[in-house]
Amino acid sequence: MARHLITSAIPYINGIKHLGNLVGSQLPADLYARYMRARGHEVLFLCATDEHGTPAELAAAKAGKPVPEYCAEMWQVQKDLSDGFGLSFDHFGRSSSPQNTALTQHFAGKLWENGLIEEVTEKQVYSRADGRFLPDRYIEGTCPNCGYEKARGDQCENCTKQLDPTDLIDARSAISGATDLEVRETKHLYLRQSKMRDKLDAWIDSKTDWPLLTTSIAKKWLHDEGGLRDRGITRDLDWGVPAQFDGAPWSGMEGKVFYVWFDAPIEYIACAAEWAEARGLDAAAWRRWWRTDEGAEDVRYTQFMGKDNVPFHTLSFPATLMGSGEPWKLVDYIKSFNYLNYDGGQFSTSQGRGVFMDQALEILPADYWRWWLLSHAPEGGDAEFTWENFQTGVNKDLADVLGNFVSRVTKFCRSKFGEAVPGGGDPGAREAALTETLETRIAAYAAHMEAIEVRKAAMELRAIWVAGNEYLQEAAPWATYKEAPDTAAMQIRLALNLIRVHAVLSAPFIPGAARRMLDALNTGDESWPDDVPAALGALPAGHAFSVPDVLFAKITDDDRDAWRDRFAGTRD
Ligand code: MF3
Ligand code: ZN
Repeated sequence: MARHLITSAIPYINGIKHLGNLVGSQLPADLYARYMRARGHEVLFLCATDEHGTPAELAAAKAGKPVPEYCAEMWQVQKDLSDGFGLSFDHFGRSSSPQNTALTQHFAGKLWENGLIEEVTEKQVYSRADGRFLPDRYIEGTCPNCGYEKARGDQCENCTKQLDPTDLIDARSAISGATDLEVRETKHLYLRQSKMRDKLDAWIDSKTDWPLLTTSIAKKWLHDEGGLRDRGITRDLDWGVPAQFDGAPWSGMEGKVFYVWFDAPIEYIACAAEWAEARGLDAAAWRRWWRTDEGAEDVRYTQFMGKDNVPFHTLSFPATLMGSGEPWKLVDYIKSFNYLNYDGGQFSTSQGRGVFMDQALEILPADYWRWWLLSHAPEGGDAEFTWENFQTGVNKDLADVLGNFVSRVTKFCRSKFGEAVPGGGDPGAREAALTETLETRIAAYAAHMEAIEVRKAAMELRAIWVAGNEYLQEAAPWATYKEAPDTAAMQIRLALNLIRVHAVLSAPFIPGAARRMLDALNTGDESWPDDVPAALGALPAGHAFSVPDVLFAKITDDDRDAWRDRFAGTRD
């Protein structure tokens, strides 16, 4: 048994996430967490809302609410939606927590002690029209790197380049659209990341098993023009972790807060502290996940995120942790994703384009989405959601293959043998062949899950479902029954047991359906089929079961067309 710390990139508080966000971090993280728990490992799976910075301020202003109130409400909305999608976080925290404030200030102090933070008098964009300094995100303009016209002052969403607001061409205020921006002097704290370049470089080099998508992005920002630049980690905002605090080694930072990208990843740690507090556990309970001097040396830490988050997780956050000089746990594996596109374009939060988590659950239960999204996870390159594709995936895989198997087997048994596992008959060559197929395929499935090859794991799982259908088709118990009812009983006994095996293997992908399958089988035995012959005999003759309701309804062409129309435009 190993210990797995698993985090998903923490979603911004401002608004409900779309399905592209979901499949790029939280959903695959949940798949992995569920799988690791199913294999008997100790798992701490954490996520939170990313509440600071200008996105939150802007959204609260738009909603006409004070920022703390807006954040508290949106946290609940996001929490309910993650429950709705079956995201099995051990804790869903908030980056505005007191734990995060304390830790963020702690790290800043340590970095200062180690000479990695300096005060810089900076020229900053001031908007006379708005009467304030404009933080990065309040400034829009053209990306100097790729020419994208809606780049923000902190990062270009199109090419992922991290930017400073003054890099933008034709900059304008995102609040008022004003272009009469001027540059004024103000003092800020800078993280001297460049001092840590060699250390980070060596650390990335040691990660030979990381996906190319992850290391290539990290290497690009380490070595490309500009390299790893020192970055300002304070901003002129009210909402955030105060940069001036009791015991701060600097002065004159009143009215400034830490930059959201400085405190957000620290929330991964704070979230563990929140988790412990929520359970009435002491500090040692969370520190054993995060401090290598207090038990975390045998933790395996895996992070999940979209590709735009990679620079912060491969460079900035490790720089904070290493730079503290304290024994904090560093990430062992970063799984990053490309983008999921929507019907010929991009999903877009700002433009309200695509399907959002709340809308998805209004239409269909979570498992339909989970299966389709995970089996089409944007791993090798960008992927695309189309309604045709979604309909095909759901109908073929879930309804025709898995749902149909469960329905045929349980109904046939009920009609010929009653609602209990039938006894009699002995397995033969066909059953031996099926066992062998399952052994090979389950091993392959497990290997893909361990490697977090999400699509490959989904393909293998589907192949396991298909193997069940093929067995049933060839064994044809409905035909066997006429001449050899005992043989038919044996075949059905095996098939009923296979439903349990399917449920256990499928639970990380489709936990709701898996639960209903186990409930119908009237069993709490969720043990992994390590020993396939034993697993195929887990439910003995005489064990009562019931026929479940239809597991997956098919998506009709009418549904598909209606949904395509309904989601063709943009949301508010
Ligand atoms: N809120 C960011 C996003 O959605 C992710 C923050 S991840 C963390 O892109 F590292 F900062 F925690
Ligand atoms: Zn760009």
